[in-house]
Amino acid sequence: MVDLDKISIQKIAKTKISEVDFEKIPFGKVYSDHMFMADYKEGQWQNLRIVPYGYMPMSPATPALHYGQSIFEGLKAYKNESGEALVFRPLANWKRMNVSAERMCMPTVPEELFMDGMNTLIDLDRQWIPSTDGSSLYIRPFMFSADEYIGIKPSDNFTFMIITCPVGAYYSTPVKVRIEQHYTRAAEGGTGFAKAGGNYGGALYPAKLAQQDGYHQLIWTDGKEHKYVEESGTMNVMFVIDDTLVTPALGDSILRGITRDSVLSLARHWGIKVEERRISVDELVDGLKNGRVKEAFGAGTAATIAHIELIGHNGEDYYLPPIEKREFSNKVFRELDLMKRGLSPDPFDWVYKV
Ligand code: COI
Repeated sequence: MVDLDKISIQKIAKTKISEVDFEKIPFGKVYSDHMFMADYKEGQWQNLRIVPYGYMPMSPATPALHYGQSIFEGLKAYKNESGEALVFRPLANWKRMNVSAERMCMPTVPEELFMDGMNTLIDLDRQWIPSTDGSSLYIRPFMFSADEYIGIKPSDNFTFMIITCPVGAYYSTPVKVRIEQHYTRAAEGGTGFAKAGGNYGGALYPAKLAQQDGYHQLIWTDGKEHKYVEESGTMNVMFVIDDTLVTPALGDSILRGITRDSVLSLARHWGIKVEERRISVDELVDGLKNGRVKEAFGAGTAATIAHIELIGHNGEDYYLPPIEKREFSNKVFRELDLMKRGLSPDPFDWVYKV
């Protein structure tokens, strides 16, 4: 059992916050003062602690480094008008982390450990939550295997940590994506639905090839036939086709995005027709050609709602309608943003006050 009275806190000698330009925050490069850590040893979570953010010693034989037994989450904190810290859907992240843990042979993280670690850390570093427009405090919980052993087996020891960083937009412009029909991100029976580090590492090379051609990201297709649209690696993908919001149905190879779920829930709440189903590349490209695809966007914690400017396929770029004409994605972006900042009703009880 986790003894929650036992989060020890070692504070930083001097905050680094004055070094940060909150008007110009890049994504993922600036870290707040403290981090949370817990060790899993002999079948127990223990040694719960908050320490100054910084480097940490580890064995060169740590299996996470060799075999990628590591998982992570991403969520965000905002400030409301009274300066209180609000976190968006942390319990959904906690649940998904445990789905990933199970797939990757790792121990689950008890709710109290995840929530109390996060609360204590955010409470301590609450001045790091930006209040500038379009920014937030990105929270990165993660867990990795920590044995000192390079044989192949699930570890007995693990480290769970939370770090946080003030962030601006992940994509600062509408995104250009290319449909990928050669390389595979995830396959049926694989780990694509889990937030496992290796899913991201394996996607770097094909994404780099697309970036060399001027795209930001890929739209991955299924690993078996490369005929059906899946997700975009940094975000789930959604389309407005005629008057229907359409997104690939979840399966083994698609991340169970929390922003994806939030968008679908809001759309249904607003009475918009929603379809979670297979979308073939042919259907998408035909729809882009004949104007039936009215909107395309990515949905993710880091990406928020990222308008897709164009989709590349077989050497052609298909442009989507101008951003200002995109009724649904602009509305859902606005609504979610207001909700996360405590400025609009929260009918689903998604906003959690620290
Ligand atoms: C997130 O959206 O939180 C992710 O983990 C995606 C990554 C591109 C930062």
